[in-house]
Amino acid sequence: EKDGHDWFMRKEIHEQPHAVADSLLGRRTPEGLLHLDEMRLTDQELRSIDKIIIIACGTSFYAGMVAKYAIEHWTRTPCEVELASEFRYRDPILTPSTLVVAISQSGETADTLQAIRHARTQHSRVLAICNTNGSTIPRESDAVIYTHAGPEIGVASTKGFLTQLVACYLLALYLAQVKGTLYGDEIGNVLDQLHEMPDHIQRVLDGEQQVYDLAKEHTGSRSVLFLGRHAGYPVALEGALKLKELAYLHAEGFAAGELKHGPIALIEQDLPVLCVVPPQGRDQLREKMISGIQEVRARGARTICLVEDGDEAIAPYADVLIRLPKVPVLLQPLVAVVPLQLFACELATLMGHDVDQPRNLAKSVTVE
Ligand code: M6R
Repeated sequence: EKDGHDWFMRKEIHEQPHAVADSLLGRRTPEGLLHLDEMRLTDQELRSIDKIIIIACGTSFYAGMVAKYAIEHWTRTPCEVELASEFRYRDPILTPSTLVVAISQSGETADTLQAIRHARTQHSRVLAICNTNGSTIPRESDAVIYTHAGPEIGVASTKGFLTQLVACYLLALYLAQVKGTLYGDEIGNVLDQLHEMPDHIQRVLDGEQQVYDLAKEHTGSRSVLFLGRHAGYPVALEGALKLKELAYLHAEGFAAGELKHGPIALIEQDLPVLCVVPPQGRDQLREKMISGIQEVRARGARTICLVEDGDEAIAPYADVLIRLPKVPVLLQPLVAVVPLQLFACELATLMGHDVDQPRNLAKSVTVE
């Protein structure tokens, strides 16, 4: 049942190329238009949307953070992302022209469910991104985009996350198509790039031994930091969450630009800092990231940098370089998070923890 792997989580990490491909399947009409099966909201309804609020918890929340970059960039519609547990307690401004997007792998998370119920009382439209057919959240939503990850058994979400990202990109492109904020061939180009992602993810998986060796060197670490910018920031947060959940280690993710506003005080000799470097071509972002890496290294940190293949500028400041396939910045989370999943899975295994059933956690959290 684990296909020769020691943990469901490791199996599920390796299923990601497939899960991403399946989640992209059948989304294009013969005319080359993007088509979403259970969209159910009419083009007219979608055109009237003037604000999007994404609500989710945990890893799904980080998928929502990535979605915000894609939605605002491609559709020019304001988009907020909020933790489901905070949402309804602040009396959010919701109208019939607000689209609330609930992201939930299980479809049963109580915080997220209560948040959509609240949104519906305010007559907002609700769209669910969900991996579990017929679960409560999609049943109570106006529209659904199902991810096709297959059942996710490991408590730590992996293929659930990657397929949520795919669904978020598809939603953003679909809105851009309906609203006319992108041309057909621009949408086609991104879809082509998405279809290349399973191969890219496979290449990252093929390099897993490097990450396993790295994990071996860090079994004695007491704390690990993660840095990212733009779409790499939620990846940093997700890398940290995986380590907390599985290795019970203190781990924190930061937006790299925030370092100098406080967190840099945490840096001490040999502290591991994993840095998600934006791809080349986004040079403003990348250069700022590089200077952040220089800063922490000058203070003794051990810098482990995830960088695009062929990017040599980081090499002088990196103790370890993990190479990522060349992909656009908005899609980079699909490849950048994979080494972080492998790292947490391996480190927890080496520390003797139960990776599939971490202490104190449940797969779906059905209490608020
Ligand atoms: O089923 P959901 O996507 O609604 O679950 C949300 C979180 O509980 C979940 O992502 C949690 O953070 C995972 N254990 C992360 O690995």
